[in-house]
Amino acid sequence: MKKSIIAFCLTAVVFISFYSCNKDDEDPDADKALYDATKSGGYTFYQNGNLLTGASPSPHGSFKLRFNSTALAALDSTGELSAGKNFPTGSIIVKDVYSGSNISLYAVMQKDPSNKNSGSGWVWAEYKTDGSVAFSAGKKGDGCTGCHSGTPNRDFTRTFDLH
Ligand code: HEC
Repeated sequence: MKKSIIAFCLTAVVFISFYSCNKDDEDPDADKALYDATKSGGYTFYQNGNLLTGASPSPHGSFKLRFNSTALAALDSTGELSAGKNFPTGSIIVKDVYSGSNISLYAVMQKDPSNKNSGSGWVWAEYKTDGSVAFSAGKKGDGCTGCHSGTPNRDFTRTFDLH
């Protein structure tokens, strides 16, 4: 009897910690809100919406890039973020990743340093076109910031030096 109680408790502890670990790096509410924000209007495309080819070390493939109005306001007269400048809080940058002539993935950066999900000042996420989560905002950019902090970067964005 005693043994089975101990076994039960151990199983419960293992189960609870496994479950909470899994939950820790997913944030469904934040993902829903950010996905909705990527689908809303008010975006302006980089380089007139030309399809750009991912440049080394990009893992993303061909893409079009778009900025919400807050991010757009930070760009200079050439349509780029000047070296040494930063995007203001509220900036959203969406990378529409293409597979052939269709969008296959949205890779998103939202500038929000005080957000509980932020990593290096940005919230990072990836969504499929049906809204399902490919990389949750709750992961705090683990897997994104290492590469995006590489040299050169402009406020952790990499496009302006490559395209
Ligand atoms: C191994 C390097 C690498 C990793 C890892 C990476 N990126 Fe990128 N990312 C790039 C490069 C390089 C660009 C510049 C555009 C291009 O050529 O693809 C870029 C561009 C972007 C952009 C457009 C803004 C910018 O930086 O120019 C977004 C948004 C983005 N990545 C999101 C993410 C997210 C979200 C993750 C993690 C899930 C991630 N990236 C992981 C290399 C990386």
